[in-house]
Amino acid sequence: MDIKLQHVEYRYSAGTPFERFALKDVSFDIPEGTFLAVIGHTGSGKSTLLQHLNALLQPTSGQVKIGERVVEAGRKNKNLKPIRQKVGIVFQFPEHQLFEETVEKDICYGPINFGVPEEEAKRRARLAAKKVGLPEDVLQKSPFDLSGGQMRRVAIAGVLAMEPEVLVLDEPTAGLDPRGRREIMDLFYKLHQEKKMTTILVTHSMEDAALYADEIVIMHQGKLARKGKPEEIFSSPEELFGLGLNVPDVVKFQYMFEKKSGIRLGKTCLSVQELADELERLYKRGGQP
Ligand SMILES: Nc1ncnc2c1ncn2[C@@H]1O[C@H](COP(=O)(O)OP(=O)(O)O)[C@@H](O)[C@H]1O
Ligand SMILES: [Mg+2]
Repeated sequence: MDIKLQHVEYRYSAGTPFERFALKDVSFDIPEGTFLAVIGHTGSGKSTLLQHLNALLQPTSGQVKIGERVVEAGRKNKNLKPIRQKVGIVFQFPEHQLFEETVEKDICYGPINFGVPEEEAKRRARLAAKKVGLPEDVLQKSPFDLSGGQMRRVAIAGVLAMEPEVLVLDEPTAGLDPRGRREIMDLFYKLHQEKKMTTILVTHSMEDAALYADEIVIMHQGKLARKGKPEEIFSSPEELFGLGLNVPDVVKFQYMFEKKSGIRLGKTCLSVQELADELERLYKRGGQP
């Protein structure tokens, strides 16, 4: 299922004195199977953008095409439930939305709400819990007796149990410790690779964007500032600095090295391994680029 945004504008409280532009003329495509990272400053419109991907918000101008469905400004867009099932969103701090008395009920809540029979929902809950690395005995516990990291996993399992085709993640690792962050990101990457699941990740981590994404979108003041492959986006660090953004440490190292030495390496390296290989080649050529 491809997603296409065409001239999407979104104004909060449109037509009132509190009107506020959050998105301006945003157009780009997300082909099926893409891992897209969305980066940008706080307030640049990332979360607003994400909520258009399953029609939780509808554009005040322009349109969003989600598979065969078109969600268009100025039209009554009815029966959005199928879209919500196909595009699962993990919101920021999703554990704040847990409320059932057991973990199992919490994970089953979405599927049951969308008409999945109880037995099937429970089967999915067990499967989803396993996928996110929760032990089975957690299912009958209260979500409120779990650690923060485990609560986060329960909330993610609840979205996976809907069996979405597209997974939308709004800073899913915010507030977790480095190990929890890595585990959760590895989980999403595995899901993406195994099922070629379209994944859209909002992140502050340039490292994660460089490591996982096929494509990166940079949002700036509600507009699409740039879109490209990680090696394209990070090949001009100065442009990102200009937008108040950072680059991965490995990219910064290469940038400073090239600036100080006047030597240009053959490519933009996105991992320590790549950079080590490039520097080794350079060294073996006696420092001649
Ligand atoms: N519910 C809301 N009501 C009014 N303005 C909002 C609301 N949510 C976000 N905004 C504004 O819209 C802009 C984009 O916000 P948001 O999409 O949350 O950005 P990001 O996720 O990149 O931090 C900001 O100026 C923000 O203040
Ligand atoms: Mg946000």
